[in-house]
Amino acid sequence: MSGLDGTRALVTGGASGIGLATARRLAGDGATVAVLDVADTGPDGLPYVRADVRDDAAVRAAVAEAVAALGGLDVLVNNVGIGAQGRVEDNDDDTWHRVLDVNVVGLVRVTRAALPALRDSARAAIVNTCSIAATTGLPDRALYSASKGAVLSLTLAMAADLVADGIRVNAVNPGTVDTPWVGRLLDVADDPAAERAALEARQPHGRLVSAAPTAGSTTGTWLAVDGGMARVRVRAKN
Ligand SMILES: NC(=O)c1ccc[n+]([C@@H]2O[C@H](COP(=O)([O-])OP(=O)(O)OC[C@H]3O[C@@H](n4cnc5c(N)ncnc54)[C@H](O)[C@@H]3O)[C@@H](O)[C@H]2O)c1
Repeated sequence: MSGLDGTRALVTGGASGIGLATARRLAGDGATVAVLDVADTGPDGLPYVRADVRDDAAVRAAVAEAVAALGGLDVLVNNVGIGAQGRVEDNDDDTWHRVLDVNVVGLVRVTRAALPALRDSARAAIVNTCSIAATTGLPDRALYSASKGAVLSLTLAMAADLVADGIRVNAVNPGTVDTPWVGRLLDVADDPAAERAALEARQPHGRLVSAAPTAGSTTGTWLAVDGGMARVRVRAKN
């Protein structure tokens, strides 16, 4: 028996990078895992549902299909995200709307669609992939940081709203992770090797985070295991 035997999980953005590694890790630990992504194909061996998180009808249909395939839902990993570079003045309105639509409203759409199934679970949890950009000012990441700041605040608000339903809500904040995402960043850099070296030097442990399990990239932080005491307020019951 593994700790996750019998756990049913849906990972969004699970066709690549952090989501793919998460889906494989959950499956390796015994969970039954489905993946939602906009990519043409999903990971080998896992149920795959295709949807663009900007399309509410497609998201509802895909989540319903995944929940049916899994026979219910215990864990939702909201991991879809796209990047944006530039200072506050560098992106036009369309770009702002597109990134916020994917990174923030997309997460809302998937969560909304998944909540009925999560409410039926006896051990429900939502994990949002957030970012170091939510808590630290990084240069040239204004829009992306705003989107992940929203994800962080939304995580706390959802945690407060859903605790009475028995649904825990948390976020993971990666630093710079060596996924196809970073590959795309380097592709557009003037000097990819220098850019990679700068990204590695920005991390105190001197290398990019790996999406692989046991990446050894958690340091200098804390994980509160406190039933929500530190950061969640609930209304007193009358
Ligand atoms: N790579 C990093 O350095 C880094 C750092 C901090 C946080 N993150 C966050 O981690 C998450 C995953 O990033 P990654 O590095 O694995 O990226 P990635 O590009 O390798 O994977 C992202 C996945 O999301 C999917 N996706 C994108 N837009 C979508 C849409 N509209 N609908 C459905 N699926 C969509 C893509 O098809 C892809 O499979 C993102 O939320 C990102 O913001 C990444």
